[in-house]
Amino acid sequence: MFNSGAIWVRRAFSLAMTLNEIFLIREKLLADLDQIKGTDELEAFKLAHLTRKGTIAAMFDDLRAVPKEEKPQAGKELNQLRQLVEERFTEKESTFAARRMSDHSMAAPGGVIDLTMPARTVPVNAPGHEHPLMKTLNEMIAIFERMGFAVEYGPEIEDDEHNFGKLNFPADHPARDMQDTFFVKPSAEWPKGAAAGPRHAPLLLRTHTSPVQIRLMERQKPPIRAIMPGRVYRNEAASARAGVAFFMMEGLVVDMGVSMADLKGILLSFARQFFGNDAKIRLRPSFFPFTEPSAEVDVSCFICGGQGCRVCKNSGWLEILGAGMVHPNVLTASGIDPQVYSGYAFGIGIDRTAMMRYGVSDIRDFFEGDYRFLEQF
Ligand code: PHE
Repeated sequence: MFNSGAIWVRRAFSLAMTLNEIFLIREKLLADLDQIKGTDELEAFKLAHLTRKGTIAAMFDDLRAVPKEEKPQAGKELNQLRQLVEERFTEKESTFAARRMSDHSMAAPGGVIDLTMPARTVPVNAPGHEHPLMKTLNEMIAIFERMGFAVEYGPEIEDDEHNFGKLNFPADHPARDMQDTFFVKPSAEWPKGAAAGPRHAPLLLRTHTSPVQIRLMERQKPPIRAIMPGRVYRNEAASARAGVAFFMMEGLVVDMGVSMADLKGILLSFARQFFGNDAKIRLRPSFFPFTEPSAEVDVSCFICGGQGCRVCKNSGWLEILGAGMVHPNVLTASGIDPQVYSGYAFGIGIDRTAMMRYGVSDIRDFFEGDYRFLEQF
């Protein structure tokens, strides 16, 4: 068994360490390292010799007591010693890591690959399928396409103007805090002016799909009838219900005489097609800077039919989306006259809807790529 006991004893009245001593210790460390057979011993070696309280650090401390004339030489030798030992240590470490990997695969104990073992089967008759999130999203897209909606996309790296400004979030308005934002660090190559303070840095990871509304209205005039699915990002602590990236699907209809009744009609129709014919919806007053009036939309729980159960936390309702009438400022900012046109918008969270639909209790399951989880869908 490897002995991790101190081999460099700090001496109170240090006789200067000699070059010979350095040489001997180097040989001893390398020999010990060579003998090491497993990760536990390797870890003990590291603790004893390579940490801040280890042998090598102690030797560097003792360099102070070495006579001036010998110091440069001793320092050089000591540096070489450290480099050599660290190199060998890393080599050893990666040998062990490689061995551990092959142990997990087909290797027989001792790291030898057993070529007589049966090959692992590849599931050729199960060639893969849609991920549950994409399945949910694609079903939603299909429903809205049948109702005459076009599908549009926008960039995931957005500018502040599209993600906030033109959506009627005033600069410094607390409404921005509803969506904790990842800002993109300005780079030296960016054009002048782009490096304004971090809070208003022009580029960020979009926090919702609403900026695609703006991009669409900027390039297409009414009538507009579109859905805009995609990934969004928020700087939230990862938990069973929230992650830093998730999917949303935006909806936007702008035309002459569009009303809140149209919004309710479309959402009810969607809920029935997606959750089942008995589905009901309810709108609760809410606030978004880019819609007025705004609402949170709940759908009656498709598990218990509104009686109350675990999925709906006994309320009988599931919160699935935010919606409202497009704010006149938003139309104006996109070059559409609010005196002539009106519109509604909505935004559905895909991941949460999929969780409810499939009874998934931890959102992270969607991203971990565990085949046993994914196989179930
Ligand atoms: N963008 C809003 C959110 O992320 C949802 C929303 C979209 C609300 C469209 C109203 C209209 O929470």
